[in-house]
Amino acid sequence: MKADLGVIKPKQTPSSLPQEPLPGSRHQDLILCAYGDILMQVNLDDIEAGIPTEYDGMFYGTKGVRMNTRIIKAVDLKLKAQELEEAAEVLRSGGLVAFPTETVYGLGANALDASAARKIYQAKGRPSDNPLIVHITEVEDMAALAREIPEKAYELAKVFWPGPLTLILKKKDCVPSGTTGGLDTVAIRLPANTLARDLIAAAGVYVAAPSANISGKPSPTKAEHVIKDMDGKVDMIIDGGNATLGLESTIVDLTGEAPVILRPGCITKKMLENVIGTVEVDPAILETNPDPNKNFAPKAPGMKYRHYAPEGSLTIYEGQISSVIHAINREAQQKLAEGKRVGVIATDETKSSYLYGTVMSIGSRRDEASIAASLFAILRELDELHMEYIYTESFGDNSLGHAIMNRLLKAAGYRVVKVS
Ligand code: TXA
Ligand code: MG
Repeated sequence: MKADLGVIKPKQTPSSLPQEPLPGSRHQDLILCAYGDILMQVNLDDIEAGIPTEYDGMFYGTKGVRMNTRIIKAVDLKLKAQELEEAAEVLRSGGLVAFPTETVYGLGANALDASAARKIYQAKGRPSDNPLIVHITEVEDMAALAREIPEKAYELAKVFWPGPLTLILKKKDCVPSGTTGGLDTVAIRLPANTLARDLIAAAGVYVAAPSANISGKPSPTKAEHVIKDMDGKVDMIIDGGNATLGLESTIVDLTGEAPVILRPGCITKKMLENVIGTVEVDPAILETNPDPNKNFAPKAPGMKYRHYAPEGSLTIYEGQISSVIHAINREAQQKLAEGKRVGVIATDETKSSYLYGTVMSIGSRRDEASIAASLFAILRELDELHMEYIYTESFGDNSLGHAIMNRLLKAAGYRVVKVS
């Protein structure tokens, strides 16, 4: 073995290795290592390159290499000309820049440079079969990246771009499979955030950008979230204030017979159907209690991974709101009596009814957008407070509520208590 394993010492004997490969990396040269009590897969290339490795939400240094991350602050979504050029140059030369979009912060790299895209996976600790979204600045850019583009793509682009909509199309050869997770399709989005567009335009390259969080953590909606997850792992972080929408883009697959929503978001099924007629929803994202023994294979590879999870145990309470409040109060009181740290996610309308634990309002039930905007931030805040048990109300399952519940259910690992 050529690699200097640094702090990670392999000590598993072949007979004690698990049958299934662990999540975290799908590269060829994998070895299994134990670090403390934790078994992990490590890519030899990464170790040789001194690239830190993430497994199951934890981050492991290999040779203790830390990048010097530059953090630059935009004022009113504008960077100074020189800073914009520096960020653009980082992207052009194959580096990583985290930047704000209207949905969540993205972690950008040149989408047509496979080695730049690979750095994204390493910084996030993201499984390499999970494809990236390519961000563009002009509708016409779609044709540079995709082939056999259906008319519906242009109809949707006309209405919803710039904005929180991602289209899945058949990819052209110029898009490396390292960007598309080995798929023959490519995800394309033209963001509304003007700073994001200025950056992509200045770089003069298409920008692959997943959410700028460590894989599995809640997506970042504030620069401080990105700094927490990515400082030391990326070249630059642009602080452009809060991401206004707070949920990642709606993803629509246009490569099949009928358009299919692969990830719900702020652009709802109804809004899409008003433009292009019937739109289907990937059955996997409608599951409220996926049975791991069943074939649960969402078409967007990213939707199958554990996601958004806070460190504490999150439980969703569903039912009549008065019963929900009663049940959460009872549960929170009991856990507090056991000496646990308890958080409650309430709404403006209900927060004064909760008597136990740290109660936070996620927004107003009269304004679902306010709930969407603070969902990830509240999950992160509860982590900062080291809450061990978190209880939340549930939200409507139509329009935006569908996207909110999709994220919340994943964050809770589908742990739902129904009260009557
Ligand atoms: O709002 C957003 O979309 C944000 C901002 C930064 O633009 N980006 C984002 O990227 O949420 P990410 O990587 O966190 O989520 C992308 C999702 C994943 O679930 C991935 O599997 C799916 O899009 N995806 C990407 N390319 C795909 C493809 N060719 N076919 C199916 N799903 C794809
Ligand atoms: Mg993400």
